[in-house]
Amino acid sequence: KIYPGSKEGSLAIAKTIAELIRAKQKLNQKCVLGLATGSSPKTLYAELVRLHKEEKLSFKNVVTFNLDEYYPISREAIQSYYRFMHTHLFSHVDINPKNIHIPNGEVKKEDVKAACAAYEQLIEKAGGIDLQILGIGNNGHIGFNEPGSGIHSKTRLINLENSTRLANSFEFATISDVPRMAITMGISTILKSKQIILMAWGVAKAKAVKAAVEEVETERVPASLLQSHPDVQFIVDEMAASEL
Ligand code: GLP
Repeated sequence: KIYPGSKEGSLAIAKTIAELIRAKQKLNQKCVLGLATGSSPKTLYAELVRLHKEEKLSFKNVVTFNLDEYYPISREAIQSYYRFMHTHLFSHVDINPKNIHIPNGEVKKEDVKAACAAYEQLIEKAGGIDLQILGIGNNGHIGFNEPGSGIHSKTRLINLENSTRLANSFEFATISDVPRMAITMGISTILKSKQIILMAWGVAKAKAVKAAVEEVETERVPASLLQSHPDVQFIVDEMAASEL
């Protein structure tokens, strides 16, 4: 779906999320959301906060799993996704902190594998992700699944491409301060979600969007692996759609 701008697109995604949360509330069920970070979802989260404050949208039945986190990184670091999520969403809504899950960038190297396996199990125990929200990297990555990530990949430690570190370096003092690794849900973890919405705004994403939706499914463009999912939507603005 192509919207004139990121604002309109973000409001549409917020509406879908709010409807899902409310539908699950009526059934007395938990609503399990997979969440993304980066600049793309900021307006979406601002709208969810507004819906909570002004339209009584409650997050009491919401369980969240974030896609990824830098590694290593302290939770308190300004650039951590832990901090991002609390700043933009969690601190402003009535979600139970016990229902928030974010890959832990603080675990010791020798414990990372076990922590990743435990993360997969937590998602399963929650009944799987009802709706996964994604952004897209300029190189077509989803979460931090860089090109080359396989369709069977699970939550794991991954080396970041230099292009990704460069794209994200504006948040850090210098590029050498950008962590070289990250913990990310895998492609298979993402594909297990019942519904997926990927958002992309701006001309910088146009090539990746085209490659993901109009070209062959390939590990070289991780977002193209979404083509095999039965319920995935790309919500983009006109600039991100300009190469379609
Ligand atoms: C980041 C995140 C992704 C995000 C993507 C795009 O590195 N790990 O989850 O979707 O890259 O970021 P942005 O929305 O800032 O363009």
